[in-house]
Amino acid sequence: MDIQQVIRQMTLEEKISLCTGADFWHTKAMPQHGIPAIKMSDGPHGLRCQEDAADMIGINDSIPATCFPTAVTAGATWNRELYAREGEAIGKEAAAAGVSVVLGPGCNIKRSPLGGRNFEYISEDPYFAGKMAAALIRGQQSTGASSSLKHFAVNSQEYKRQNGDSQLDERTFREIYLTAFELAVKEAQPGTVMCSYNKINGIHASDNKELLTDILRTQWGFDGLVVTDWGALNDRIEGFKAGCDLNMPGGSKFMEKAALEAVRSGKLDEAFIDASVERVLRLVDKSQSISQTAVDWDAHHALAQQVAEQGAVLLKNEENILPLTESDTVLIGHMAGNLRYQGSGSSHINPTKLVSITQALPHVPYAPCGDGLGNVTEEDLRHAAEMAKQRKVAVVVVGLPDSYESEAFDRAHMRLPEGHNALVEAVADANPNTVVVLLGGSAMALPWADRVKAILYMGLPGQAGGEAAASLLTGKVSPSGKLTETWPYAYEDVICKDTFGKKNTEYREGIYVGYRYYDKAKKAVRYPFGYGLSYTAFTYSNLTVCGRKVSVEVKNTGAVSGAEVVQLYIAPPQGGLFRPVRELKGFERVELTPGEAKTVEFTLDDRSFAIWKDGWKIPGGTYTLQIGASSRDIRLEQHMEVPGEELVAPAWQSGSWYETLSGAPTREEWEQLMGHPVPVTAEPQKGQFTMDSTCMEMKEHSFIMKVQYKVTESIIAKSFGGKKDLDDPAYRMMITCATDCPMRSVVISSGGMMSDSLAQGMLHMANGHFFKGIKAMLKK
Ligand code: BGC
Repeated sequence: MDIQQVIRQMTLEEKISLCTGADFWHTKAMPQHGIPAIKMSDGPHGLRCQEDAADMIGINDSIPATCFPTAVTAGATWNRELYAREGEAIGKEAAAAGVSVVLGPGCNIKRSPLGGRNFEYISEDPYFAGKMAAALIRGQQSTGASSSLKHFAVNSQEYKRQNGDSQLDERTFREIYLTAFELAVKEAQPGTVMCSYNKINGIHASDNKELLTDILRTQWGFDGLVVTDWGALNDRIEGFKAGCDLNMPGGSKFMEKAALEAVRSGKLDEAFIDASVERVLRLVDKSQSISQTAVDWDAHHALAQQVAEQGAVLLKNEENILPLTESDTVLIGHMAGNLRYQGSGSSHINPTKLVSITQALPHVPYAPCGDGLGNVTEEDLRHAAEMAKQRKVAVVVVGLPDSYESEAFDRAHMRLPEGHNALVEAVADANPNTVVVLLGGSAMALPWADRVKAILYMGLPGQAGGEAAASLLTGKVSPSGKLTETWPYAYEDVICKDTFGKKNTEYREGIYVGYRYYDKAKKAVRYPFGYGLSYTAFTYSNLTVCGRKVSVEVKNTGAVSGAEVVQLYIAPPQGGLFRPVRELKGFERVELTPGEAKTVEFTLDDRSFAIWKDGWKIPGGTYTLQIGASSRDIRLEQHMEVPGEELVAPAWQSGSWYETLSGAPTREEWEQLMGHPVPVTAEPQKGQFTMDSTCMEMKEHSFIMKVQYKVTESIIAKSFGGKKDLDDPAYRMMITCATDCPMRSVVISSGGMMSDSLAQGMLHMANGHFFKGIKAMLKK
């Protein structure tokens, strides 16, 4: 396609229109200019490709595809090469389904264990998340498909994700919340980046020129297309100016009209629109060369199993109770027969096959003892205890039920269902050899951890999760996964516990996220970042540093083959501008047979030492290079003199929380960090509502919004057999997405059911202007 020629032939109306989707999944075709439509579908851990007529309501209806382990499990492999192979497999399935863009990976930072989408994200550590995301993108794009790196940026909670404001200081923004995106963009050049719903310091991501142009394109060299998250566009004019190209899913005639008028009146330079059109056309053009190859579904299932095996984390294994012998074992727990293998929301995949743990261990006696919601009766407990006594080892499978974590809402707490805790306790009372297999997308409180002999954390292991659990339990494969987020003892230990989950979220803890907080605060944790056991053992020796090259020897000293994840941390000098006690700057997974040793090599770069202070700068001084098996298990270390600048700490830092990490940061301290006072925004009241307000926010003040809520509820309930069941995460997600999203977004995503004039009219009414509302509704 001669893109410039096509742009010259297009009318202004056509150009604006091309920058809005045709429907839920397609861009617009313009045959008069030889422009075909292209299709996008969700990732990130498999293809959620809906038939052409489908929309958001049919969230669980999609064509069969391989459900790979979710990012919590795939990330825990620390295996870039394997993750790239997963990406390649997803790319092939996309090509076979006629999909050009796969919406993933997600590399938002896991700030709190309660984040509803933690299971879809890779880590609490930005370096790690970025490196792994780059691997997935590389694999995916090797097939011709384009990835969509999401959700850019600072989208670390689900509560009010569509109109909330993430408030943070520049250093934290750069070092923690942008770094993962930066690495993935620079290393793998995803075809598209998806901007998030939320505001960042008061500016919507979609309107944010600093984010989408200055940082993403100018500083990082991104040359692809920016697509909105579905319904995230706030303002078409500001969006064009900011470099936000494609508005999905469509249905925003009013925004197009506004852009047209703005060009005509000279408020918007047509060059912005041309630049976006060019990027849309480049993506469309590139998509034409995707070639389909036959999909080997069995091979993809086997790959999903391999990822699940490498991503499972052995948290505890007292007296080497694992691996076990099948004939000596009983299986207990609803989830053993009904594997919780993926999360709810837009990443929900219709698997080609699904193997539970009981199916993978058909000769092991089994008792479900409980239901899918985590309820367990007294009778279940009695039965579980009886079963547990029948064999040498009792394996209890528990975890977070579907209703506990999902896109669109955060977890209410860090606990397991009470029924699951009771079940583990009852089994542990009956059998001293109790093993727990744990399923769920993020850290959980484990009150019984000291009472059981082993804990195998499978995360959400995808469609082959049952087979993976079986081969790990029986020792066909030695566990090698390591945690990519710290597991605190309880939610009370989480530093952002008081600021997480608010509409305007103050990121007061700054750069002290995950182990950066726990390690410097010397807080005891249940399991540290990077932690995971094996059926074998490894020793580390010969740490050599030569300039920026580092090497270390790792040896398997145990009796079985296994893999170790070697982690390189940099411990910066303390005393100047505040810094964490260590930060991950390299990792390698190495497979070793018994007695075998291998040398692992790393290369450091300037960023390994740098911090953000009006640019990336290296504070000079003595750094310590640490090689560890987790952030709390440093095996070898060596000092390094690193030349750099002297960065003077501001006077306010002395004795502040950011230096001491004692207690929690106050608002005043955080404002010092921000560099200015941060006004507290009051919730808008009747008379102040705007198109950024949601039906949920307005319904208490307005009859029309109450009606709107009820109508939406019944429309959604219809596709759930009339049931308004908040324990069904798909229903809860739908109702939240539809009623707690800004009015502008309802128009964009409603597939034509809500016109702009109707929305404007309702808004006037909600603001107490009934007749103005009627007038607006009658406007064509
Ligand atoms: C989600 C995205 C997803 C999109 C399309 C949004 O609500 O946040 O992750 O790709 O929907 O399904």
